[in-house]
Amino acid sequence: MKHVSGATLKRSIALSSLVLCAAVLPAQRASLTVDTSASIAPVSPMLYGLMTEEINYSYDGGLYAEMVRNRSFQHRGKNFASWLPASRGNGSVEIEGGTDGPSTALPTSMKLTIKAAAGEQAGVANTGYWGMGVKPSTTYTGSLYARPDGARNAHILLIADTSGEAVATADVALEGTAWKQYTFTMKSSAKTVASSTFHLEILFDQPGTVGLQLVSLMGPTYKDRANGNRADLMGMMADMKPHFLRLPGGNYLEGDTIKERFNWKETIGPLVDRPTHRSPWNYTSSDGMGLLEFLEWTEDLKIEPVLAVYAGYSLKGEHVTGAELKPFIQEALDEIEYVTGDITTKWGAERAKNGHPAPFPLHYVEIGNEDFFDKAKTYEDRFDDFAKAIRAKYPKLQLITTMPITRGNPDVQDDHYYRSPEEMFAMAHMYDKTDRKGPKIFVGEWATRTGSPTPDFGAALGDAAWMTGMERNSDIIIMSCYAPLFVNVNPGGMQWPSDLIGYDAARAYGSPSYYAQALFANHLGDHTVKTDATGLNSRFFWSATVSTADKVLHLKLVNGSSETQQLTLNIPTASARKATTSTLHAASRWETNTIERPEAVKTVVSSADWKASLPYSVPGNTIQVIDIPLK
Ligand code: AHR
Repeated sequence: MKHVSGATLKRSIALSSLVLCAAVLPAQRASLTVDTSASIAPVSPMLYGLMTEEINYSYDGGLYAEMVRNRSFQHRGKNFASWLPASRGNGSVEIEGGTDGPSTALPTSMKLTIKAAAGEQAGVANTGYWGMGVKPSTTYTGSLYARPDGARNAHILLIADTSGEAVATADVALEGTAWKQYTFTMKSSAKTVASSTFHLEILFDQPGTVGLQLVSLMGPTYKDRANGNRADLMGMMADMKPHFLRLPGGNYLEGDTIKERFNWKETIGPLVDRPTHRSPWNYTSSDGMGLLEFLEWTEDLKIEPVLAVYAGYSLKGEHVTGAELKPFIQEALDEIEYVTGDITTKWGAERAKNGHPAPFPLHYVEIGNEDFFDKAKTYEDRFDDFAKAIRAKYPKLQLITTMPITRGNPDVQDDHYYRSPEEMFAMAHMYDKTDRKGPKIFVGEWATRTGSPTPDFGAALGDAAWMTGMERNSDIIIMSCYAPLFVNVNPGGMQWPSDLIGYDAARAYGSPSYYAQALFANHLGDHTVKTDATGLNSRFFWSATVSTADKVLHLKLVNGSSETQQLTLNIPTASARKATTSTLHAASRWETNTIERPEAVKTVVSSADWKASLPYSVPGNTIQVIDIPLK
């Protein structure tokens, strides 16, 4: 039997009242019969994955462990948002744009003119992404580029907003008059477990000028990766048992204009060589999360990338065809080589230079994103040109089209659905009749959208109904991923309501939809089996898959109505051993989780004896996954 695994699924509270009902059968009782000896179709081992892009402060102010906001005064200009003057005593500071910087990519800086008498200090403070999260006894790793007008000390402090107390400090001795990078670490003596009410100060105690650029402070990272990701959010993703990461978008791939596309070559190498870029979600990305960091994210979760390459169309309508498309096709070929090439190739060698000699696995490449928005209707031509060039060099890659097309012979088609719970209920059977001769399906973005910033329980019900349909049709639906994945829940953090996981600088929580997905992905067989149902309400959905090796039926039941569904469950091959039931239930479809009430809705696990036929009841507003051992 498969074990319920992951921190999110560990709660074990008896739910006997939800499970077995010893009531006498009414004459017209509804029933569900599962014949596990009748295999219907294979289930794709890649069915559940993750989709990502820079939206809702997903990386900057989210997954990426950087705590300093606007660390390089993005975008190549005099933009000091989130930076404020700071002082001790009567010290003061003038902040202006510096006309030089440490690199071609970052050619400007922040110039401080310090006035400080003996015993005084002045400099700047950074307020982070709606505050900084600081934990007790934790080491923070920092760095900055500075160009002083002579030797001087920088005093770096993490300060508690509420008390003004410094909870971590470091002193850095600056030298010379040229740009140079300095590094430091600071250990926190904060007493609270986690809060986002801290800020950073960089102070100087002698008068004069200092240029600053790329000021960074990283919190602890998952698997201690340098320039890595927040451990709590990575852990939550690991608990979802994903198999792939679709990257880097979404609209983020395309940009509003060609210039603002995800230009991967400008996102690799030392941070000081990354110019940053404006994203279509209306803020500038630090590009600390560049192509290699995306790939390392997949490596850390032991999943594979599904790489979307820019395909010559941007959101405001700019598009490129014919000979002008060639540089973009080359850009995609180079990108694939960067991901998969060994170190004897040009871009494989570049990846090794960036710190990762081993190539990454890659089986799927998506050409563009949502190209049905291209009013000039150039996608068929663009797809064809990309596909020919990619197949000539990489014949084994599976190519994904972003819309139905008649040329180019795509292997897979990416379908996107953002819908209400009612629509998801209505769509749960839409793939049952899909022609099996066409391309395979990748549901590359989908979500039931009620609730903000994260979906409510009604949305989780819509999601669960939809997932039963994807599992039943997983012979054709080979991959799927919910979108968007992340949202910073602070006011101004969200561009797209209804996102799977919410957080601030210190805390994170899963929406009911998050728990539903984790449940479905953690309990999935390798093939579907025959089911017959009668008399169930019109908002009742189910999926029956069997894990051959474990000899377990994973029966998923979704009651999207508010009324209890009584039924008889007939499973002739069920053994008499105990079954494990994981239940997600809410009293109302409006119930939800928030940053303050993170576990109002969560998975509850129980176990019960099972037999070949039994009366059963599923309360209204309930999602259940039952792992039933087979004879
Ligand atoms: O997931 C949010 C956006 O929805 C994606 O960026 C885009 O592909 C879709 O329109």
